[in-house]
Amino acid sequence: MSQNMKGESHYTTALDAYPVLKDWVSQYRAVNAVQPKYYIRTFGCQQNEADSEIMAGILEDAGFLPTDSYATGDLILINTCSVRANAEDRFFGHLGSLKQFAGEKGRRIIGTCGCMMTQDIHRSRIEQSFRFVDFIMRPDQISSLLSLIEDGLIHKSIYYTEDRSTKFHENLPISRQRKYRALVSIMYGCNNYCSYCIVPYTRGRERSRKTKDILQEIMHVAAEGIPEVLLLGQNVNAWGKDFADQKQQNFAWLLSKVSEIKSIRRIRFMTSHPKDLSDQLIETIGRIEQIEPHVHLPLQSGSNRILTKMNRQYSREQYLEIVNKLREARPGLSISTDIIVGFPGEELADFIDTIDVMDRVRFDSAFTFIYSPRIGTPASEWYNPIDREVIQERFEHLVELQNEHSLTANMKLIGHNVEVLCEGRSSGDKTILSGRTADNRLVNFIPQDKNRTDASSNIIPATDREGEFIPVHITAAKTFTLLGEEICP
Ligand code: SAH
Ligand code: SF4
Ligand code: F3S
Repeated sequence: MSQNMKGESHYTTALDAYPVLKDWVSQYRAVNAVQPKYYIRTFGCQQNEADSEIMAGILEDAGFLPTDSYATGDLILINTCSVRANAEDRFFGHLGSLKQFAGEKGRRIIGTCGCMMTQDIHRSRIEQSFRFVDFIMRPDQISSLLSLIEDGLIHKSIYYTEDRSTKFHENLPISRQRKYRALVSIMYGCNNYCSYCIVPYTRGRERSRKTKDILQEIMHVAAEGIPEVLLLGQNVNAWGKDFADQKQQNFAWLLSKVSEIKSIRRIRFMTSHPKDLSDQLIETIGRIEQIEPHVHLPLQSGSNRILTKMNRQYSREQYLEIVNKLREARPGLSISTDIIVGFPGEELADFIDTIDVMDRVRFDSAFTFIYSPRIGTPASEWYNPIDREVIQERFEHLVELQNEHSLTANMKLIGHNVEVLCEGRSSGDKTILSGRTADNRLVNFIPQDKNRTDASSNIIPATDREGEFIPVHITAAKTFTLLGEEICP
């Protein structure tokens, strides 16, 4: 914990404006003789992960220490996602299991936050069935986290307010979870209203962060020695469209500005909406080497009829043309996608159209989802005559086809040398390391012997080598991973 000039603990200053929380922390320390610990459980997309890093930053600044389970957390936050029913169900499952840890109100501090908290239906359920929760926070209230905790402690019932929301999260501490990749939100919200999607309702209208703020954050990232940034937005291609004075400030321009920060060796971005992927952006992706040779380009459906019903604002032909242009501009570029199966009224012919686009593009990877009706979205009110079993069959067919494509794409790399940005030990096998290629393929690889703690035991790498660029020779391929060995210099 940092100390200020007077020798007081830093958290004391951060908590000065919140006397009740400050008192709670003091009492905790008096009893336990250590600082209280926080645990944040995050569901959903990387934008939620980025938000959780800010929440963690605010809490660490206030003197809380991180921990990694509900059982050991004195302050627990669950950051929720509404995008499909299973994310919501899992959240309520977790909340149910928290009952056993909650104790009497005020002993542990429990907050629920994220996209689900913007919806009355979920807040009411929490208020009715999970009364041990102290406070509810919307995604646009993150900068008020400490003040909401304070009110949660003061109020007997669950605290929730519509106030204290901000359009942007600026000048807040961030506790980055990875040494190799920094998540940087460049915009918030979404204006597209795809007919199946809840995000525009949970995250509000599109707001682009200012260039100055984004670049300043990335300079900090560079100064911390993090070599990769992931620029985040629900539709990064629309960045800058809401600026009054647009000049040349669009996403392609922003990418070139970020690439001037040379110690950032990899620039990733997601998500790209096909309707806003301009020729200028394609040219930029082709020209600037630091930009990853990978684009995540959600297709959703290959049928023009369904794309129109989804309000996606592009046709299959336009999608295929963008893919061709991208591959011409940047040979070797990998393309990943999202596809929804079982959208209301999807007929066999529509599904075959999706398969056809998959066969033409041959995506390097794809996230496939069964359509999940979201209350409040237009599509949730449309009649869906398709049998669940048929949808399940289509889904399995699609997964199988994609697995075939992914494996073929990965097999092409056998025998090649690639540069891997190390993410640490492999989650499945702690004796090997794991990381990603520039085009976003996951590689598990054997480090050289000199990097092991004890060459004779041949087991554990001396360090995780997180954040290091490591040359790897690819020896085998699986559907979702490549296998390889570190190359001796
Ligand atoms: N803004 C991004 C990501 C949105 S959510 C984009 O436009 O691509 C991530 C993915 O979840 C979407 O691409 C979509 O494939 C899927 N998704 C969104 N709403 C869904 C729903 N109601 N049912 C099933 N999948 C959904
Ligand atoms: Fe949802 Fe569409 Fe916006 Fe993506 S672009 S967040 S799918 S509404
Ligand atoms: Fe989920 Fe909200 Fe992200 S609904 S996908 S956490 S924007």
